[in-house]
Amino acid sequence: MTDNYPTSLFSSNLKFSNQNLHGGELSIAGCSAEKIVKEFGSPIFVLDEADFYLRTKAWKTALEQSFGGGQLYYAAKSFICVEVARWLKELKVGLDVCTQGELATALAADFPAADIEFHGNNKSEAEILFAIKSAVGTIVIDSFDELSRVAKIANQEGRIQKVYLRLTPGVDTHTHEFISTAHEDVKFGFSIASGDAQIAIDKCMAEKSLNLAGIHCHIGSQIFEVDSFKLAAKRLIAVLAAFRDKYSKELPELNIGGGYGIAYTNNETAISPFHVIPAIAQEIKDECAKAKLSIPKISIEPGRAIVGPTTTTIYLVGTTKLVKLEDGSTRKYISVDGGMSDNIRPALYGATYSAFLANRSSSEKSISSRIVGKHCESGDILIPEIELPADINAGDLLAIPATGAYGRSMASNYNHMPRPSVIAVKDGQGREILRRENEADLLNLDVIQAPRQLS
Ligand code: LLP
Repeated sequence: MTDNYPTSLFSSNLKFSNQNLHGGELSIAGCSAEKIVKEFGSPIFVLDEADFYLRTKAWKTALEQSFGGGQLYYAAKSFICVEVARWLKELKVGLDVCTQGELATALAADFPAADIEFHGNNKSEAEILFAIKSAVGTIVIDSFDELSRVAKIANQEGRIQKVYLRLTPGVDTHTHEFISTAHEDVKFGFSIASGDAQIAIDKCMAEKSLNLAGIHCHIGSQIFEVDSFKLAAKRLIAVLAAFRDKYSKELPELNIGGGYGIAYTNNETAISPFHVIPAIAQEIKDECAKAKLSIPKISIEPGRAIVGPTTTTIYLVGTTKLVKLEDGSTRKYISVDGGMSDNIRPALYGATYSAFLANRSSSEKSISSRIVGKHCESGDILIPEIELPADINAGDLLAIPATGAYGRSMASNYNHMPRPSVIAVKDGQGREILRRENEADLLNLDVIQAPRQLS
């Protein structure tokens, strides 16, 4: 497993027959794109189940090889449903949730509460109570307000709650500003540099209902620089050393978050767990040796790196048009039957993707094309510029790989679009694990209600 971790944008069991540069007849885990769409409709998220298992095991193995143990938490926000939670339970990994909804999904899968950690920068009292009553393993405390809240509720419930403190190590990562989380000017966590981290530790230690087991950081998402992870780990170990000096005992756990980058286009390469985890481990071992600390139990929280490449979105082309640009060139607009409601990432972060013909190959010359969705927004662009064969037309299928993370999980009902289904494919068979929304779902929230007195 060490040498052949899949680092391209494709899931392991994705194949094109009659392939050329722009695609061919696509099959995923032996299921043809045409049959999938015929059976389940489009747009559709197609999740390669064996690939999900392979990636989860790889991250778990890398952690075990480097640290002789540790804990992998899968970041539910990247994509979760009851079936995926069942897989994770079978794979014996932990789950990072950050809302009551994600927690409820895990519990609906009978996921062991002890293996869940509860995140979030603004957990409500109701969420904290629900988490404590559900006996989640760890609550990751994000602010002073929350520290008092968790302590109070744990106390009321007669519980001693295991907690981590989320710290911001002041690492500036090279990723989109919206998904960078560990610089100083950010809503998450306690700053190490400002001294807030130390104050939070002292407050936590003074609360009888809190068991401070470790510290946490998550420096951001879609990160490729191993040095950023190493720097964050180094700064957290300095905090562990300061703790030992002050309290004459060691904090046993260190969670270094997720954020490992994946490939979205042909010229990108995912970060491999067998590259990044040993590098971080070496740094942690060196720093702990320098500070004469024992090596804490390490946990990580990848989401995207596991589920991102497992999933391919298949769209049906609806309309096309040629547009003459100011410089005299032409661009072909290819409209698909989804768009920003199933993938907000291009509009929100300028995220880049590749697209492939999925129902046939074409030997037509390729022309400048733009893939757009069906929403009433000019910004509803999935891929602003891509060379695709000139004969792509209504009725063709287009596949966009690497849409498993933050695709369905950030999907919306904009323009009253039903959110697409997610199917899991394996050994030539497919089944829905999240069904497509229908009109009844969309109308379900509409009410005709008598007004209530509010003054
Ligand atoms: N742990 C914590 C505390 C997090 O906040 C996140 C992601 C993760 C782990 C998992 O990060 P990952 O390994 O999946 O990169 N919607 C954005 C990403 C937001 C990430 C939020 N937190 C996107 O589509 O790129």
